[in-house]
Amino acid sequence: MVTISPSILACDFLNIEPELRSFLGVENFWFHLDIMDGHFVPNLTIGHPVVKLLSTITDHKLDAHFMVTNPDFYIETFKDFKIYNFTFHAEATDNPIELIKKAKTLYPSVGISIKPNTPVASLSDDVLREIDLLLVMSVEPGFGGQSFMQGTYEKLKQIKERKKQLNLAFSIQIDGGVNAENAKKLIQHGADNLVAGSFIFKGNPQDYKINVEKLRE
Ligand code: DX5
Ligand code: ZN
Repeated sequence: MVTISPSILACDFLNIEPELRSFLGVENFWFHLDIMDGHFVPNLTIGHPVVKLLSTITDHKLDAHFMVTNPDFYIETFKDFKIYNFTFHAEATDNPIELIKKAKTLYPSVGISIKPNTPVASLSDDVLREIDLLLVMSVEPGFGGQSFMQGTYEKLKQIKERKKQLNLAFSIQIDGGVNAENAKKLIQHGADNLVAGSFIFKGNPQDYKINVEKLRE
């Protein structure tokens, strides 16, 4: 079953607790936390104090997507906040293997992410062997509510091929502009984890769960 990961960047921050509670009981579900540092991307979002509190109000798995220039610092300093999956950007380091190995000692799942202009070929076989998840950005990271980039499908074909060649089982997550129109094609192209912000957090809170299922259908 495909995992759906709502990006809380699109939720109502003044009502964050009831917003998160509206997904009670949904399975194959992660909360996607977009952590931006104002350097790796122009935007600034949430950091340590907020994530620490979020971990106390939900039992759902937390999926942290670090859009930061110094992932090493975050690997160390987020370790006590019950993060399930820790993803950092390939573009932010020259030593991905070292960081993945370190993160693996602290988090159950570790992912690496590539921006739209970063080729799949830039990821070494060794990196692919180490990761639990590959996050393919389908928009330029930094902001929610952008349009999905069609070039994502070609990347997914290449990833599927590499996975097969190397006989690997890592998850493929897509983030940016995901909606009910492109979800099916993404899943057909091998994606098994879909992040969505603006598509899920629209309408009334009682619609959010329905929006999650629309992506899976
Ligand atoms: C963009 C973030 C995404 C974003 C998704 O930098 O990584 O997670 O919030 O939002 P939508 O689904 O609105 O594109
Ligand atoms: Zn994200």
